[in-house]
Amino acid sequence: MKNEVPFYDPDLSYEDNYKEGPFGLFAEKNIPESGYSEISGKKNPNFLGLEVDIPFGIPAGPLLNSRYIKAAFRFGFDLCVYKTVRTQAQACHPLPNVLAIHPNGHLTADCDTVLADKNYSQPLSITNSFGVPSFSPDIWQPDMAEAVKAASNKQIMIGSFQGTQGKGKIEDDYALAARLVAETGAPVIETNLSCPNEGVNNLLCFDTEAVYRIVEKIKSTVPDRPLLLKTAYFKDDVHLKKLLDKVGHLVQGFSTINTLSARPVDKNNHPALSENRPEGGVCGDAIRWAGLEMVSRLAHFRQEMGADFVIVGVGGVNHPDHYKAYIKAGANAVMSATGAMWNPLLALDIKKSQV
Ligand SMILES: Cc1cc2nc3c(=O)[nH]c(=O)nc-3n(C[C@H](O)[C@H](O)[C@H](O)COP(=O)(O)O)c2cc1C
Repeated sequence: MKNEVPFYDPDLSYEDNYKEGPFGLFAEKNIPESGYSEISGKKNPNFLGLEVDIPFGIPAGPLLNSRYIKAAFRFGFDLCVYKTVRTQAQACHPLPNVLAIHPNGHLTADCDTVLADKNYSQPLSITNSFGVPSFSPDIWQPDMAEAVKAASNKQIMIGSFQGTQGKGKIEDDYALAARLVAETGAPVIETNLSCPNEGVNNLLCFDTEAVYRIVEKIKSTVPDRPLLLKTAYFKDDVHLKKLLDKVGHLVQGFSTINTLSARPVDKNNHPALSENRPEGGVCGDAIRWAGLEMVSRLAHFRQEMGADFVIVGVGGVNHPDHYKAYIKAGANAVMSATGAMWNPLLALDIKKSQV
């Protein structure tokens, strides 16, 4: 585990990272023009019918625009997800958006209280609190089209999107977002169902009927693009099975997990993000157990149902052994956000471990 300069700077605002980033090895002057992508030396696996060098990459979030995506592809992250976009502009939460967190022992899925500060020590876990900001489609559509073009042979650019509450039926806004993403040429699309579902104080992915309506609408609007659902950690199998029974045969895959909720506090026990943001999502090393567990359970149900959806394992990957553990648990692909942010050489480390 290395402690490189992160390619996203936690001390800067989202807007400044968007304008000035990426940083460290991902900065433009450090990017090798030819790229490192094809070094695995193995027979190339396939992801959703598309060839990839290795099925590893960066999930929705840290890759803010096409400059970030281009850098990630050049450093061998063969699956890159463009940060979740919306059908309208939405501002980011004020700073801080990222803090290091230090769980005392094991982090549970029960919204633990955790110490948060700026000590980004390894093995690293962080809280992220952005509020899913987005530029308007006239800005992100041409940029996402550039990101699609940045993929080399055996690399895939995935477009992530979500609907916004308060604009009529939520499924209509999800479907519009899906169409706008598909227009950029993204060969695979992913919809984020793991952001707070305003008004219900819950996550959309736990509301099976709403997910069904959203999936149906997206599928009828964009029938020709493989669709992944980004979900949170499900505590119990009953809810997970209900979701799979309803949409497991309609979608092409599940990308999981997003973050585990926690209450980050400073050393004086005050909310570390701000008084009105007492909770934040935790990602990184502390949530790997939950990501692995979800992948195993999904793989089990996939076999039981005779379904063929793919599973993208996300959560706490910061070493080649973690990649292998996810594949062993049943993942078809693996992604790392926190681990990759602080170690831009992670994909190359994994490729080297495969040769
Ligand atoms: C800086 C940052 C921003 C994120 N933004 C999004 C987002 O816009 N959409 C989304 O679906 N997930 C987002 N995530 C969650 C990640 O995709 C991933 O599910 C989570 O971080 C767990 O992976 P990790 O442990 O490798 O960080 C974000 C994560 C980070 C670190």
